Amino acid sequence: MENLNHSNIEGYRSGSVTAVAHSNIALVKYWGKRAVQNNLPAVGSISLTLDALYSKTNLELKDRLDQDIFVLNEKEVEGKQLRRISDFLDLAAGTKDRPKAHIESENNFPTGAGLASSASGFAALALAVNDRFGLNLDRISLSALARQGSGSAARSLYGGFCEMKLGTKEDGSEDVAIQLHDQSHWDVRLLVAVTSTQKKELGSTEGMNRTAQTAPFYDEWIASQPTDLEEMKKALSARDFEKVGELTEHSCFKMHGLALAARPPILYWNAATTETIHRVWKLRQNGIQAYLTIDAGPQVKILCLPESVETIKEAVLGVKGVEHIIEAKPGTAAHIVDPEKEIIL
Ligand code: DP6
Repeated sequence: MENLNHSNIEGYRSGSVTAVAHSNIALVKYWGKRAVQNNLPAVGSISLTLDALYSKTNLELKDRLDQDIFVLNEKEVEGKQLRRISDFLDLAAGTKDRPKAHIESENNFPTGAGLASSASGFAALALAVNDRFGLNLDRISLSALARQGSGSAARSLYGGFCEMKLGTKEDGSEDVAIQLHDQSHWDVRLLVAVTSTQKKELGSTEGMNRTAQTAPFYDEWIASQPTDLEEMKKALSARDFEKVGELTEHSCFKMHGLALAARPPILYWNAATTETIHRVWKLRQNGIQAYLTIDAGPQVKILCLPESVETIKEAVLGVKGVEHIIEAKPGTAAHIVDPEKEIIL
């Protein structure tokens, strides 16, 4: 695993800390790894941080524990999921010989259902670990750390619109996220049409690895990404809603088309997902500016402007199988909080 610069370690800190990180939605998708070692993405990506979806993580280091304790949404987690957390803490500390951690984390949304819980989860954990291990990492180094927990987590360190860079070095030092625009740049809305709160059957890591190994158009996917990224950056700077929407849908369907071409095929959608896609397209034919994107799960995320929110909500709630809609705005950067105080979205 990647060696972070630990030369400025101040030492482990006692007492607990609480960090909050928001989930993010990729407007230009990350799908595929160029190396599993250091979790290096095969493509760059661009995202919008979402205020309404977040993970809140409390961490305390305890010398007397034999192993880490990880409580997620009030349930203690063991096995593979706990190992993923412990490996991440070893990596952050730069050694396995570290105090064990008691971590309590909660997501204010369904976990593992394609709502980027690993993104907000690892971003919050990276921030908490940085604080308690006394690492003093800056945002960019924090994004590289979070990336090694989950690729999309690198982007959740920042508020607003953000880019995950594609590096060339094996050590991952260039595979970092940067902010493109903060949350005040553009008042767009992201409506999440929740069509299932069940945990997905195939996680994104397995899904993208299978796609990379078996999908015939994988090389074209990688080759076409730089153009999408450049066009998206220009469109975001210009606040060109139509262009941002068109590129967002294109990247989404290119990713899902690629996953469908894997062997065996990967399909994250259910019937309500498909119905919602048609409903959004119908809205657009009727002059409502709404564009959709979908991650490794069945939820449909609709990008729109504030004035269209109510019309879109009403139309999409009419789709059979849409359970509810979460409305999000551009969210703030991950931050340390006072657990007693209200969260700043
Ligand atoms: C479809 O970040 O969950 O949401 O790095 O293996 O943990 P790992 O993958 P993850 O993949 C996210 C895939 C996506 C697109 C995106 O967020 O860019």
